[in-house]
This record gives sequence, structure tokens and C-alpha cells, in this order.
Amino acid sequence: MQTKIFDTPELLARTTAGDILELVKNKPNAVLCMASGETPKLTNEYIVEGAKKNGVDFSAVQFISLDEWAGVPKSNTGSCYYFLNETIFEPLAIPESNIHFFDGTAADLAAECERINRAIEKLQGIDLVLVGIGMNGHIGFNEPGTSPGLSAHVIELDATTLQVGQKYFSASTRLQKGISLGIAQIMQARLAILLASGTKKAGIIKKTLEEDITTAVPASILRRHNHAVTLLDKDAASLLNNRHLQEATK
Ligand code: PGA
Repeated sequence: MQTKIFDTPELLARTTAGDILELVKNKPNAVLCMASGETPKLTNEYIVEGAKKNGVDFSAVQFISLDEWAGVPKSNTGSCYYFLNETIFEPLAIPESNIHFFDGTAADLAAECERINRAIEKLQGIDLVLVGIGMNGHIGFNEPGTSPGLSAHVIELDATTLQVGQKYFSASTRLQKGISLGIAQIMQARLAILLASGTKKAGIIKKTLEEDITTAVPASILRRHNHAVTLLDKDAASLLNNRHLQEATK
């Protein structure tokens, strides 16, 4: 897996946004699966800015849900949907018919998983999946130990995710399960970008890139992806060894 390191979070976000805009320019009906969370905030800002400035048409782009908190409605400001709606769907006026998102409040979450699996099949796969990384190495809500063979599934969230996850909510929220695309679907995406920024991610990035490929660190499995790239700012890369840094900057 190629790794690129940028001096600042702004440069990281600008480059990531630029790559996504280029992809959409070349394939206006691209199928994108984009993470929510703190990491892609700035990237999404630059995507919207760039799309408006350069007239990149997003009206035919299809969006697939990466993950969602079970039991949390779309209207909750902490939901994954809310984040993407605020940062991408609304500003770029994405038609609702192009948004294929998990409903965390659906009575039958297994059926919800099937619905999204079918949407991906119908769209003939995902062109780009952009994931952040959890403090425990998760991608989407594929927690440590998750089978890499799964497609969309409901998962019991681990203690780290439950604790860290509170940061997205305006009031303390009861979280227990998540609904997530599986690692198999992330691995089948034609391009995968792993994005990380800040010193707090340095330890898990080192494990992901320099230690064993293991289900205990789900992001490490991306190293087996045919076309994946890790984009980091200097702080997230600060614990990587020199050999790796030299390879990365080639
Ligand atoms: P963050 O979340 O971008 O808010 O750090 C990443 C993740 O948990 O996948």
C-alpha cells in the first residue's frame, strides 16, 4: 500500500479533496463511500469549495453508506448521515435517489444490510471508499476481530468506539451496536483511501502500516488491497520508522 505524508492537515485535506474531484470529473456517475467523523471534515469542505469553483458536477454521483449507529435517527446531529448531509449532500444538492444510506432506526437491521448490499451490486461496485481509522484500528465499524469476509452487518461496538463515539453527540447517548459495510466490500472498492491526521492517530497508524496484517487491527488488512493508499499528515506519521518514511516520500 502506498503511503503519502503531508506537512499540514490542510495540505492533506486539499490533496484528498483534489483526488476525489478528479475522480468525479473523470467519472460523473462514480459510486463513492465516504466516512464521517472528524478526519474528513476539512476534506469535505475542500470538495464542496472545489466542486463549486470548478463546476464539477456531482448530480449523478451515487453515495453508499459506510456505517451508522444503530438506534440513532438521521436527524440526530451525531449520526453519520447527519455529518455527510451537512458537509456533502446539502451543499452539493445531491438528489435523494443517489443516497443509499443505512437507517440506524430500521426495525430490521439485517434487512437494512441486505438493502445496501443490493444497492452496491446494482451500482456495480464502489469506485472509491474513503475511511478514517478508529483509535482501535477499526475501519467503518469493523471492530478488531471482525471477519474480513463479511459484507454489510450489524456489530456490537467495542469499548473504545463506545467511549470515543460520544464526541459526536451533543448529549450523552446510549450506543451499543453499529451497522457497517464489511471489510470484503471495502476490499472490493476500486480505490481505497485511508485518511489520518493528528498525533493521537500516530500509534494506531504505526501498528496498521508497520506491524502484522491482522484482524486485530482491521485497517492493516487494507495493505492487501489492490489499489489502496494511506494519506497522512506529519503528526499521524510521526511514529513511523525512517525506512518507511523514505519509501513514502518517493
Ligand atoms: P474520527 O473517527 O475521524 O472522528 O477520528 C475515525 C473513525 O473512528 O473511524
